[in-house]
Amino acid sequence: MSARLGILLSGRGSNFLAIHQAIEEGRLSARIALVVSNRPQAAGLAKARELGLATAAIPQAPDGDRADQEERVVAALRQAGVDWVCLAGYMRLLSPAFVRSFSRRIVNIHPSLLPSFPGLDAHGQALRHGVRVSGCTVHLVDEGMDTGPIVVQRAVTIEDGDDEASLAARILEQEHRAYPEALSRLLAGRWKIEGRRFSMLPEA
Ligand code: GRF
Repeated sequence: MSARLGILLSGRGSNFLAIHQAIEEGRLSARIALVVSNRPQAAGLAKARELGLATAAIPQAPDGDRADQEERVVAALRQAGVDWVCLAGYMRLLSPAFVRSFSRRIVNIHPSLLPSFPGLDAHGQALRHGVRVSGCTVHLVDEGMDTGPIVVQRAVTIEDGDDEASLAARILEQEHRAYPEALSRLLAGRWKIEGRRFSMLPEA
């Protein structure tokens, strides 16, 4: 049976669409069981509805707290039978309780070569630092900010004339390749983590 993915997003959802396309084209054996957003107006959520996928808008209630919002997200994912949670531009740090409830089953994509430039404004951080190479990282989520074991990275050369928009666009192209590639490695199940180092196991 193919793995059931839960996608969490807050914005335009291009990484979600790249995962969806990889599934449609048979490059990734999985199904998207639920798309959740903390922002009801997120463009990615509208695209998921257009595609006929199950969706849920779960914002923080005006008088509620973050823990309450997270509990509702976890409940929705459980109800949809989700095995793997894919963060795709989800602009919230997950609590330790959330991470534990899907231990080593939460994946994130970040637009830099971690551990460089975690957190917000990764492109601006890379340009200001003056690195000549940046890229993207798909990693398993632990309790820190962009700190979990790395599954796939793809590098992008920084050109002299780059600004945040041009760099972000070139990195995004690589993100759309890296995320499905990382998921197909993870879902194949033949991998191990030693220390914080992820590696694939040989074919049986
Ligand atoms: C991507 O750059 C991703 O690396 C970061 O947030 C952005 C989401 O873009 N975590 P999209 O919503 O998938 O288009």
